[in-house]
Amino acid sequence: MNVYDSLRMVDLMRTLGFEQTDTPDDADMIIFNTCHIREKASEKIFSELGRFKPLKEQRKKQGKDLILVVAGCVVQAESAEFMNRAGFVDIALGPQTYHRLPELLRRLEQKRKQRIIDVEFPAVAKFDFLPAAKSNGVSSFLAIQEGCDRFCSYCVVPYTRGAEYSRPLNEIVEEARQLAETGTKDLMLLGQNVNAWHGEGKDGTPSDLSRLVKAVAEIDGIERIRYVTSYPSDFTKEMIAMHRDIPKVMPYLHLPIQSGSDRILKKMNRRYTCAEYEEIVACLREACPEIALSSDFIVGFPEETDDDFEQTMDLVRRVTFAQSYSFKYSARPGTPAAAMKDQIPEEIKTERLEKLQALLIEQHAAYNAGFLGKTMHVLLEDKAKKAGYLLGHTPQMQNVVVKASEEFLGQIVPVRITKTAATTLDGELS
Ligand code: 5AD
Ligand code: SF4
Repeated sequence: MNVYDSLRMVDLMRTLGFEQTDTPDDADMIIFNTCHIREKASEKIFSELGRFKPLKEQRKKQGKDLILVVAGCVVQAESAEFMNRAGFVDIALGPQTYHRLPELLRRLEQKRKQRIIDVEFPAVAKFDFLPAAKSNGVSSFLAIQEGCDRFCSYCVVPYTRGAEYSRPLNEIVEEARQLAETGTKDLMLLGQNVNAWHGEGKDGTPSDLSRLVKAVAEIDGIERIRYVTSYPSDFTKEMIAMHRDIPKVMPYLHLPIQSGSDRILKKMNRRYTCAEYEEIVACLREACPEIALSSDFIVGFPEETDDDFEQTMDLVRRVTFAQSYSFKYSARPGTPAAAMKDQIPEEIKTERLEKLQALLIEQHAAYNAGFLGKTMHVLLEDKAKKAGYLLGHTPQMQNVVVKASEEFLGQIVPVRITKTAATTLDGELS
């Protein structure tokens, strides 16, 4: 979602005549977009910003300026502390106000030296104020839903992104069309809780994610559709069915479980049990046998015992994942879990994470090894670092490095897989 927001800020700044630069040295303005989900991500911004203070001072000596803008959830969550620790920042704004950037820049011009901070949750959605979307390549993100009403006990999102908001269907279809017209073939529909999306269909009747996906699939040029992130108990039969019935819906699903212990899931305020999660997975695999499953895990949640952790390991062994993201629990200010007793010591979190990741990486490698020698349809999206090679994705969202010349960029081509590892495949045009 932050990548999407950053790209929309670029679209917005283009309307003021700005262009993206490759290095900070060429920049008149630098925008930092920040993440508050875990402490590590959040702390990064302060050290990053410190690096740019000398550059700003150097510009001043030359009689010029470097405008420093910080956007995103760190600003939203810690606006007061933020301005104390980074007083040389010119503009700070939250994730729901970045559409006001042009107006804030004008205000900055008028009252030089005065810092501006904007962390409102405006009543009118920012999307109404953003310019037409433009593809940056053949793969694009499209935010369809934002914010969250789930309040998992460890999570800052409901506080930083605000309440659940679904963009209207027509607006989403229009943005998808703009992206298709400017070269997008592969679309990732985004939301913090994407399957909570709700709206009205073209005929005015209530519509859920499956109807929205159907409408997006009708757009010429869009060939691949994925959506992220899904909340297990908001996943419906209709959503399962679209993996069987809509060929453009790719066989890939990111479905975070977080823990394999029902006791911990309850403390996390996740409103499903492991058995319910496994039932959804079974139905999905029945509807779409080739589906690749991905998940998120948190280890070391308060009160997690060795036995709870072993239950997570057992769940992973039972379900098996093609991809995954796993994290040590990070206490976030203001969330209920941060105040829970029995916070788990760092060494135990580290030990559990290592164990879990070893198992998951083994599963990812085994999953990918199953494709050795097979031919897969790969969308070639970018140049690889190595000359003569391109990067792409399979329908199951595996990364592939393909020996191919640039003329194939942007095409979906058959690729024979010649080598596999846990995070990438190698292949050649077949
Ligand atoms: N600590 C660790 N991981 C977290 N996540 C969200 N909040 C926290 C936290 N406080 C993880 C969850 C979520 C992913 C986006 O980040 O696994 O699915
Ligand atoms: Fe955070 Fe996701 Fe839970 Fe919402 S559903 S509170 S975004 S972890």
